[in-house]
Amino acid sequence: MTVHKIVCWDCGADVNDPYVNTCPKCGGLLSVKIDLEPIKEMKPKDLRKEPLGVWRYAPFLPVDPANKVSIQEGGTPLYKTCRLAEEVGLSRAYVKFDGLNPTGSFKDRGMTVGVSRAKELGAKIVGCASTGNTSASLAAYAAKADMKCAVFLPSGKVAAGKLAQALFYGAKVLSVDGNFDEALDLARKMADARKLYLLNSINPYRPEGQKSVLFEIIDQLEYDVPDRIILPVGNAGNISAIHKAIQELKEVGWIDKVPMLTGIQAAGAAPIAKAFDAEKIDFIPEDHPETIATAIRIGNPVSGRKALRAIYDTGGYSTTVTDEEIVDSQRLLGKTEGVCVEPASAASIAGLRKLISAGVIDRDEKVVCICTGNGLKDPDTIIKSSPSPIPCKNSVEEVERILSL
Ligand code: F0G
Repeated sequence: MTVHKIVCWDCGADVNDPYVNTCPKCGGLLSVKIDLEPIKEMKPKDLRKEPLGVWRYAPFLPVDPANKVSIQEGGTPLYKTCRLAEEVGLSRAYVKFDGLNPTGSFKDRGMTVGVSRAKELGAKIVGCASTGNTSASLAAYAAKADMKCAVFLPSGKVAAGKLAQALFYGAKVLSVDGNFDEALDLARKMADARKLYLLNSINPYRPEGQKSVLFEIIDQLEYDVPDRIILPVGNAGNISAIHKAIQELKEVGWIDKVPMLTGIQAAGAAPIAKAFDAEKIDFIPEDHPETIATAIRIGNPVSGRKALRAIYDTGGYSTTVTDEEIVDSQRLLGKTEGVCVEPASAASIAGLRKLISAGVIDRDEKVVCICTGNGLKDPDTIIKSSPSPIPCKNSVEEVERILSL
C-alpha cells in the first residue's frame, strides 16, 4: 500500500488522529502527504495495465486497493469539442465530462477513496453536508459498503435529481433550515462529537480521489499537458485536489509543464473570484450566496485558501459568470456537442467564453473545461429554459402542420 501521512497544510505538523478534520495544533486545513519515491521508479505506461479510472492511479492514493469500495468511477470521456471551439473562437477545446460517473458527478472520484478509508477505519455511520451531488454520491457508496449514511442538505435548494438519488440509496436525508455553509457547520459538529465519519472535502482523503480527474486528463492527452484547465468552484475541494495532482506529477517527473488553473464562480456566490480580483490570499465570505447553479451556491468555501494558492501558483485566473451566461452556455454545449451538463458545470463553458472575449485566454491555447455534473440532475432548470412541448392531436395532418412539411 502507498505510504502516506496526514499533515497540516498550514503549519506542517503531523496529525495522527484519523478522526480530526483540522489541525489539533493550529486549526489549519489537513493534507495527505504521499511517499512518491516508489513512483519515481515507474513510468506512466506502467499504470495502463489497469483500465482508465480512479484506481488506475492507486500508487498516488492513500488507501489500500484491497479495501476499495468501487462502482467503477472515473474513466470519463475527454471530448475534443470542435464545434464548441469554433463557436467560441478557440483553436483547441476539450470537455472532460465527469457527469458520466456512476452517480452522475465528479464526486464519485473522491467518494470511492473516502468511503474505502471509512471502511478501513471501521466506520459505521458516514455523513456529509451537500448542495446535492456529494450527498447523492455518498449515499450510493455507503449503500455499496453497507454503512449507515446521513446527509445534511440546505432546505429547498437541492436539485430534484440529486435529492431523489440520496433518498433512493437509503440515506437519512436531513433538510436543514439554512444554506450549505450552515448545513456543513452542523455536520462538522456531529463529526467533532464523533457521532459520524465526515466525508466532505475537508476530510483529506476525499480530495485524494478527486486528483484522478487531472491524472486522467493528462493520460488521455498522452502527457501533452494542456495550457489551461477551467472548472467551476464551490467549496473549492476539486480545484485544490487538481493542484495537488499537478504538483505530484511534477515531483515524480512525469510532467514539466503546469496547466493554468482557472476557477469560475457564479456572480452571486463568488468568495474566491472576488478575492482573486482583490489579489487576496484568503477568500472573501459571502453571507447570502445565490445562484441558479445550486451546486456552487456556497459563500464560505472550506478549501478557499487552497484554491487561491492553486490559482496563483499555476498562473491561473478566477472570474464570475451570471446566471444568464450559465444557462446560455449550458444550451450552447448541448446544441454544439450533444453534451448535457448541469448549470454549475456550464459555468466552466461560460467562463471560457468570457475570458476569451476579455483577452485573458489566448485563442491558440489548448483548453480543457471540466464539466462536473450531468444535466439530468437538474431537469427543472432545463425545462424552464427550454420551449414548451407542443400539444399535438393524434393525426398526420396535425404533425405536418406543426413541422411545416
Ligand atoms: N460542480 C458540481 C456539479 C458540484 O456539485 C460542485 C460541488 C462543484 C462543481 C464545485 O466543486 O465544491 O469541489 O469546488 N458540489 C458540492 C456538493 C458542494 O455538495 O455536491 P467544489
